[in-house]
Amino acid sequence: MRTLLRPIVAVLLAAMTLIAPPWVAAAAPDVTGTWVARMNSPLGEIEFVFRLNSDANGHLGGSVNSLFGDAPILEGRINGDDIEFSIDMDLFGNIQRRTIKGRIAGDELQIESAGLLPTPPPGMAIPGGPGPGGPGPGAGPPPFVPGTLTARRGTPTPSYRAGPVDYEALPKVELPALKALPSNKLARTPPMGWNSWNKFRTHIDDKTVRGIADALVESGLRDAGYLYVNIDDGWQGTRDGNGVLQPNPNFPDMKALADYVHSKGLKLGIYSSPGPRTCGGFEGSYGHEETDARTWAKWGIDYLKYDWCSASRLWKDEDMRAVYQRMGEAIRATGRHMVYSLCQYGRAGVESWGPLVGGNLWRTTFDIFDNWPSMTRNVSAQEALAGSAAPGRWNDPDMLEIGNGGMTTTEYRTHFSLWAIAAAPLIAGNDVRALDADTRDILLNKEVIAVNQDRLGKQGRRVMQQGDIDIWLRNLSGRAYALAVVNRGNAEVEVNIKWADLTLPANLRARDLWLHRDLGRLAEGYPGRVPAHGVVLLRLTAGK
Ligand code: GLA
Repeated sequence: MRTLLRPIVAVLLAAMTLIAPPWVAAAAPDVTGTWVARMNSPLGEIEFVFRLNSDANGHLGGSVNSLFGDAPILEGRINGDDIEFSIDMDLFGNIQRRTIKGRIAGDELQIESAGLLPTPPPGMAIPGGPGPGGPGPGAGPPPFVPGTLTARRGTPTPSYRAGPVDYEALPKVELPALKALPSNKLARTPPMGWNSWNKFRTHIDDKTVRGIADALVESGLRDAGYLYVNIDDGWQGTRDGNGVLQPNPNFPDMKALADYVHSKGLKLGIYSSPGPRTCGGFEGSYGHEETDARTWAKWGIDYLKYDWCSASRLWKDEDMRAVYQRMGEAIRATGRHMVYSLCQYGRAGVESWGPLVGGNLWRTTFDIFDNWPSMTRNVSAQEALAGSAAPGRWNDPDMLEIGNGGMTTTEYRTHFSLWAIAAAPLIAGNDVRALDADTRDILLNKEVIAVNQDRLGKQGRRVMQQGDIDIWLRNLSGRAYALAVVNRGNAEVEVNIKWADLTLPANLRARDLWLHRDLGRLAEGYPGRVPAHGVVLLRLTAGK
C-alpha cells in the first residue's frame, strides 16, 4: 500500500507546486530597487533608469528616467514573470500615454523599448520622425530602432538626475494675476553667445565651461559679439534643507565660475524648468521660483533659459503665460538683470505675450537637430512671426548646430545666413575649443553677424519661392537690405533675381557677404548660381 501511495502523493505534490490554489498564491517577485539599462541611439547612448517599487500582490510603481525626462509609472502590474506599466511621455508639451511590457528573467528585466522612445509628431525632424533617414547631408535623421532593453540592478551613471515626483501630492503653486512687466531693456539686438546643449547634452561641467570661456576669447568670438556662456540642462544637484538648489559635483562652485566667466568679459547663463523636473530629468524650479532666482542672482547669473517640460504634467497651455510671468517677476525681484529666454516650443501664441512676462526671446519650434530638414523647418516657422520681433524681443528658432558635423559647410553657411536674416539669437552650439577653419569662418563672419545685429531689429521674411529657390529679405538700417537666395534643391541652380519682382528700387549697390566682395551697382537684379543647399547672401544699399 505504502509503495503504491508514494508515487501518487509525489505526483499530487508536484501538481500543487505547478498549479498553486488561490489561497496559497505565490507572492509576486520583488523588483523594488534601481535598475539601469543602456541603449545606443542616433542621439548617442541613452541611459534608462527604472526606480521601481513592488509588493507581493503584484503592484508596481516608481518612475522611468532618461534623456526624455522623468515619468511616473502608472498602472504597473507584475503577473508571474511578466511586467506591464504605462507612462505619460512628455514630448515638447504633447503628452502621449504609452504601455510598456517586459519580463523578469533571473536577475534581469527585459523591457520592450518601443514605448520608451518618443514618437515625434509629423513634421518634426528628430530621430524617429519622418524623413529619408540615413546619415549624410540633406538626409533626415536616422530613426530610433526599438528593441529589447536589458535592465540590471545598479547605480545610474552619475548624472545627478533627480528621483521620482509624486505629481498628485505636489503642493499647488499659486499663479499670479496676469499683468505686463516693463521691459528689462536687455537684448536690444538678438543675444549672442554659446550654449552647452547641442554638443554636450547633460555631460557638462565647470572645467568645460571655463575652457569654452577661454576659447571664446582666444578665437575672437567674444570680440565678435558672442558674450553669453550658457549652461543648459545638467548642472543641477539637490536642494538643501532650506530648499536652496545646489549644483551637482560637476560644478563645485557656481559663484567662482561666474566670477571667472565675468573676468573674461563674458556673461554666464543658466537653465531651469517651471516644472519639478527639467527635460533631462533634473531638479526644476516648481514651487521654488523666488529661491532659485535669488540663488542665481547671488551667483552672478546673467541669462536664464526656462524650459517648460514637466510643467505640462501640471498645467495647461493656457496657464503658460502666468507660469512664465511668475519666474519673470521672481527675476525682477532679485534686482539683477537677466536675459529671460522662454522655452516652450512656440506653444500658446507665445510671441504675443512673451515680452509681457519679461521675456527677451522665446523658442518658436521643437528642438533643432544637426540636419538640413530640421534646420530649414525651424527657420521656416519664423516667417509668420516676423512682426513680433523687435529690439528686446526675439523669435528663437533654437541654437546653432554649426560645427557639430551633421551638415556640410555649405549647409552651415545657409544656416548662419538664415539665422542672420531672421534676427535669430546666435547661440553657438559646438565645441568652440576645437574650431576648424570652416566653422571659424562661418561663426566669425562679421558681415553676416552685422546683418543679424542690425539695430533696426526688423526680422526678415521669405518673400518669394520659385522651384527650389527661396528668397529671404530683411530691412536694415540706412536704407539697406539683406537678401538671401537659398537653394533647397539637390543640384546647383542658376538664378536671375529681379529687384522689381521684390519691389526693391533699381540700381542697388551689392556686396556678397560670403565672398566678401563688392559687386558694384546692379541696375536690375542679381544673376548668379547657388549651389545645392547653398546660399548667396547680399547686402544691398539704395541711394548714393
Ligand atoms: C529641451 C530643450 C532643449 C534643451 C533640453 C534640455 O529639449 O528644447 O533646448 O534645453 O530640453 O534637457
